[in-house]
Amino acid sequence: MTKEFKRYTITAALPYTNGPIHIGHLAGVYVPSDIYARYLRLQGHDVAFICGSDEHGVPITIKAKKEGVTPQDIVDKYHAIIKASFEEFGITFDNYSRTSAKIHHDTASGFFRTLYDNDKFIEEVTEQLYDAEANQFLADRFVIGTCPKCGNEESYGDQCENCGTSHNATDLINPKSAITGAIPTLKQTKHWFLPLDQYEDFLKEWILKNHKKDWKPNVYGQCKSWIDDGLRPRAVTRDLDWGIPVPVPGGEGKVLYVWFDAPIGYISATKEWAEREGKDWEPYWKDEGTKLVHFIGKDNIVFHCIIFPSMLKAEGSYILPENVPANEFLNLEGNKLSTSKNWAVWLPDYLQDFPNQQDVLRYALTANAPETKDNDFTWKDFQARNNNELVAIFGNFINRVVVLTNKYYDGIVPEAGDFTEVDQETLTALQAYPSVISSSIERYRFREAGQELMNIARLGNKYLADEEPWKIIKDDEARTKTIMFVALQIANALATLSEPFLPFTSAKLKTILSVTSSGLETSWNDVSLKTILLPSGHQIGKAELLFSKIEDEAIQKQIDKLLDSKKANEAANAVVDPQKEAITYEDFSKLDMRVGTILSAEKMPKTKKLLVLKVDTGIDVRTIVSGIAESFTAEEVVGKRVTVLVNLAPRALRGVESEGMILMTETPEGKLVFVNPDDANTKNGLSIS
Ligand code: 2FM
Ligand code: ZN
Repeated sequence: MTKEFKRYTITAALPYTNGPIHIGHLAGVYVPSDIYARYLRLQGHDVAFICGSDEHGVPITIKAKKEGVTPQDIVDKYHAIIKASFEEFGITFDNYSRTSAKIHHDTASGFFRTLYDNDKFIEEVTEQLYDAEANQFLADRFVIGTCPKCGNEESYGDQCENCGTSHNATDLINPKSAITGAIPTLKQTKHWFLPLDQYEDFLKEWILKNHKKDWKPNVYGQCKSWIDDGLRPRAVTRDLDWGIPVPVPGGEGKVLYVWFDAPIGYISATKEWAEREGKDWEPYWKDEGTKLVHFIGKDNIVFHCIIFPSMLKAEGSYILPENVPANEFLNLEGNKLSTSKNWAVWLPDYLQDFPNQQDVLRYALTANAPETKDNDFTWKDFQARNNNELVAIFGNFINRVVVLTNKYYDGIVPEAGDFTEVDQETLTALQAYPSVISSSIERYRFREAGQELMNIARLGNKYLADEEPWKIIKDDEARTKTIMFVALQIANALATLSEPFLPFTSAKLKTILSVTSSGLETSWNDVSLKTILLPSGHQIGKAELLFSKIEDEAIQKQIDKLLDSKKANEAANAVVDPQKEAITYEDFSKLDMRVGTILSAEKMPKTKKLLVLKVDTGIDVRTIVSGIAESFTAEEVVGKRVTVLVNLAPRALRGVESEGMILMTETPEGKLVFVNPDDANTKNGLSIS
């Protein structure tokens, strides 16, 4: 028997406020959590769906330093951008708060204080990494070094992004300051540690014993491995100036570790929401009848399954999460999503290129969600999901039903006659869908749930294709009415059951079917319980396309955008040739370089690279063989003004004597270009010195 809960507290990982949100965030955390929260509300449950901006932590300080602004400027900017993206994509948080809010500072400080007062911390002076040049301690992302577990040379002080291990900065091998590049020294400083080792028994019982079956294997497996490796005390304070001040004696100049304050952000955001709504926040966090679920990405597992529960346990008055359905990562076109490499699809950019097509992205990301393993998002797959499923199956079914109802009955739902066996079977199949989809959603299998939703449209298409009302209408009007009646019931079921997945489409469909305005909205459970969801005599609206085909050009534009990012990255990371050995002025003065004009050009027969040029050097017109044919056609170089090394000893190339060299360089994108005299008035023959 599954337990019945009185209410649900659903949290989605608080995004760091140092950049906009991309499709990886949406696929991993925000779309699944939104489907879940919308589904629970449709079931009539009491839900608090909570999120907010994670505004502390070193990445924000680093970004601010880079841009020459304050951390507050950074968080203000991205909080607004991220919040707007969530609203635009229909993510229905009951509250989207921020950790710089006063209510959060007070809540996190209070939480720390309670643990401190109850002797839950170890207070210890230890040696921490220090950058003498920058005059500061190197916490978390301020230090980079080799991960002691996997050997990744770019691991951060608190976590290795390669293997996911969470460690102390002093565990890193060959640490280096991310601020100055200096090798850190060790300096004594006092911190407060949460003795995780003391929570091992509790975690073993709670996770390894109680949640072996219902947690996803990837989450359970990670937890087991941490617990098996043995837990150690973790510092929950830092020597930094951006964050929540440590509220106890000796805490001056120190702040709470971002991973101590951020999950408390879920609690403060719930408090803020409850205050606004005139509710009591406490049952959402303290009543055993509440189901608490954290939606996160896999890099957050240790914090939500080991550290935060230990904090809650130490405090003593809180419930623990029932589940932490962490997703794996989404890759993009075969490569890891990366903010720094701009290898991402940013939500504001997506909406600019695909206006009003939020549901297409929600659907494609759900269909391809990284639920059990890392997955790849490709633009071709996105196009196929839209064109072959949303347009060809869902949109096509609805369009046929609405167009035919308008054509045959002026948009009025017809009277049904007796149902045939096929009608009965179809309606019975339809009635089974709510529980099929519920079962997938309740097991956090959103891909499967989304496919089941599409199967309803498939059912409708098959029914119409088999029953062929457009043929039957010629001889049997009564039968046609029954067929259309059945098809309309399927359309209305789709309007209801699609709401968690495709909220914009669901709303549009409800408008087309005129159910919202006439109080005929069907609940999730009605679809199982009632045969008549749209009664005879009800007037529906006109047909409107729910989805439209995405053409190849639109997809190519996105792929090209990514290729541009790739090239820009390669150029930025290109290794600049080291400087050659020094030469004297005498050596330099031996080079005779002149301004010249290319008068004619021909491709050297049987070669790929060579052009034979006639160049007016101002001294004479001479032949120069140049290896530029892969970058330029003969036609386009004629008339170009160029720089020529004229006293290079002549050399025969494929039997043609070349009497000089044209100087070339490359753009950052790797395109070959002429080193050309930029003033058009320079005369051929002018020396370059
Ligand atoms: O990984 C991240 O983006 C973190 N900002 C997630 C924080 S989740 C929570 F605990 F606040
Ligand atoms: Zn590692």
